Amino acid sequence: MGDYDRGFSMHTVSERFMEKRTDNISRIDRLRADRTLPREQLRLLLTTLSEEEAAYLYKNADEVRKEHYGEDVFLRGLIEFTNYCRNDCLYCGIRRSNKNADRYRLTTEEILDCCDKGYVLGFRTFVLQGGEDLFFTDEKICGLVSEIKKRHPDCAVTLSIGERPRESYEAFFNAGADRYLLRHETINPVHYRQLHPEELTIENRVRCLRDLREIGFQVGCGMMVGSPFQTVDYLMDDLYFMAEFRPHMIGIGPFIPHGDTPFHDRESGTLQDTLHLLSVIRLMNPRVLLPATTALGTIHPLGREMGIQAGANVVMPNLSPTGVRDKYMLYDGKICTGDEAAECRRCMELRMEKIGYHVVAARGDSKV
Ligand code: 5AD
Ligand code: FES
Repeated sequence: MGDYDRGFSMHTVSERFMEKRTDNISRIDRLRADRTLPREQLRLLLTTLSEEEAAYLYKNADEVRKEHYGEDVFLRGLIEFTNYCRNDCLYCGIRRSNKNADRYRLTTEEILDCCDKGYVLGFRTFVLQGGEDLFFTDEKICGLVSEIKKRHPDCAVTLSIGERPRESYEAFFNAGADRYLLRHETINPVHYRQLHPEELTIENRVRCLRDLREIGFQVGCGMMVGSPFQTVDYLMDDLYFMAEFRPHMIGIGPFIPHGDTPFHDRESGTLQDTLHLLSVIRLMNPRVLLPATTALGTIHPLGREMGIQAGANVVMPNLSPTGVRDKYMLYDGKICTGDEAAECRRCMELRMEKIGYHVVAARGDSKV
């Protein structure tokens, strides 16, 4: 149809509506085929999705995940081993200025005990996560990692302990650590400044991520959805950054306010936005390992299930001892703080079976 014809053609309202619908459907098809969309198309997709179109988006993301990973959902046992933190991120409940946080550190024995129990329960990845706590020197971390690998050579060890110099990362890798999670939080420098104190910069964050990848880690980055000051443009920058960086893992979840932080009166990120983004991320990064996070399970009782159905393929039940669970409070209302590791494991299995997926006792390495 030429421009002349188009100018004079008469569209009924429902035909025009069909046109818009078709546009988003074809944007989804195009995103799946090309793994990217031009910026303005991506913006329209992210901002004008109807419920039916969202269902189509989830279905496509789910299919792409199944092409690479089938119905398997990988388990990661999360061990929150310290809530001391030298940083002061404005959104985070364990920031150093939060004098109400009840601080704890697990002992080496406690950490190893979590791993031993986790192993029996079928976990083959242990994620050691903590605040940036320099009590845990490089030496201590290396000792822990090598002891875990010695006891459980068939398991992967993931570290999530923030920014350190390249030499530290090299030492961790040489001690046997396999993976490293370090969310970039937002790639936009202005936004980064709004979420973090002066001494943290996006440049150093990206330096860490590049070092980690060069050293040989499987690397994870990611951001919160609906964090204060976030715009669609910032989110698109994050999506393009991740597509270019090609991480092995991407962690996203809704921002949830914590009462003892400067963002205590901010709104949480939404379920819908998080699900849309999980699917878009799956279509842009078909083989990425993508968890349905605890934060997603916190804003909706079936959030993690919906996350899996929208293209996620990892869940991270908590292996921390129950006595400290409620102290690792990055945000308010965090789920599973009262459950034993075995309960969480069983609960997750049932939840996944219910929606037609299977948790697997495998390391679940990245296929990126
Ligand atoms: N809401 C949601 N996620 C949060 N995180 C930290 N604070 C919050 C919050 N208030 C996320 C950050 C961090 C990860 C460990 O937890 O993205 O990287
Ligand atoms: Fe601990 Fe941000 S407050 S890493």
